[in-house]
Amino acid sequence: MKSKTSNFKNKNIYIIGGSGLIGSEITKIFSKTDGNVFVLDLKKSKKLNNYKYKFIKFDCTKLNLIKKNLDLIFKKNGYPTHMINASYPRTKDWGKNNFSEISLSSLKKNIDHHLISFVWISKIFADIFVKNKVKDASIVLLASIYGNKGQDLSIYKKTNMRENATYSIIKGGIVNYVRQMASYYGKFGVRINSVSPGGLEGVDSQTNTLQNSIFKKNYVNKVPLKRFANPQDVSSSVLFLSSENSSYITGINLFVDGGISII
Ligand SMILES: NC(=O)c1ccc[n+]([C@@H]2O[C@H](COP(=O)([O-])OP(=O)(O)OC[C@H]3O[C@@H](n4cnc5c(N)ncnc54)[C@H](O)[C@@H]3O)[C@@H](O)[C@H]2O)c1
Repeated sequence: MKSKTSNFKNKNIYIIGGSGLIGSEITKIFSKTDGNVFVLDLKKSKKLNNYKYKFIKFDCTKLNLIKKNLDLIFKKNGYPTHMINASYPRTKDWGKNNFSEISLSSLKKNIDHHLISFVWISKIFADIFVKNKVKDASIVLLASIYGNKGQDLSIYKKTNMRENATYSIIKGGIVNYVRQMASYYGKFGVRINSVSPGGLEGVDSQTNTLQNSIFKKNYVNKVPLKRFANPQDVSSSVLFLSSENSSYITGINLFVDGGISII
């Protein structure tokens, strides 16, 4: 019997931020299904050279142009049935969004570029699903454990890593907006869920430098499963939430965090 997770025949799957660390794994896993995969991102990823998908250049921070640009993209490439947002728009001074250095303009800009773009893009897709009476329509948004809990600052001791005040607002906003959207769009058969990954090993997005060994040890020590998340942990959960296997699941926030949020 054919697995239900591969049942994306005639589906158009749009992945915003599908070239990134997590996004590229999501692109890979969907490109192995029978669906049509479109990546909307600022840049193309070399990691995806051997995968079947179409890249479309797209800037999610151009809020006033998003509707017009998406309409053109859909007209040319096909109307969507699924959307995943794994983008991570951030300003150059993102690393200064800690409580002592944050400026009002950076706070506002990052909320606009990340939270508002997630909100606005999701609404545009959901309205298209309703208008086109799409069956099995689904949206999955990337949130974070830090949209659900405060950061444990003890894990940053003796490192140059800092807290981020804005990230908690953005990801917390996404998690609850997903619930609100699911409540409204459910009657149209549109499912909307979020995934909250725990930390992935690699570059610290605040400082744009590799995470140091003290932080890595402190973090992993706190995780019940004693390891970082990897991009495949996240992509398989996104695939599940986009597939018919989760057809009665909407409005949830799925933690993919090795258990760190339960303690
Ligand atoms: N990496 C982690 O540890 C982690 C943990 C929890 C949640 N997340 C969330 O998962 C998502 C993906 O994170 P990641 O680590 O893969 O990030 P990443 O920086 O590796 O990838 C983000 C992608 O978004 C694209 N992007 C940035 N600005 C854009 C814009 N203006 N328009 C269109 N595309 C744009 C980038 O080009 C990139 O391909 C983010 O929402 C992030 O907050 C990440």
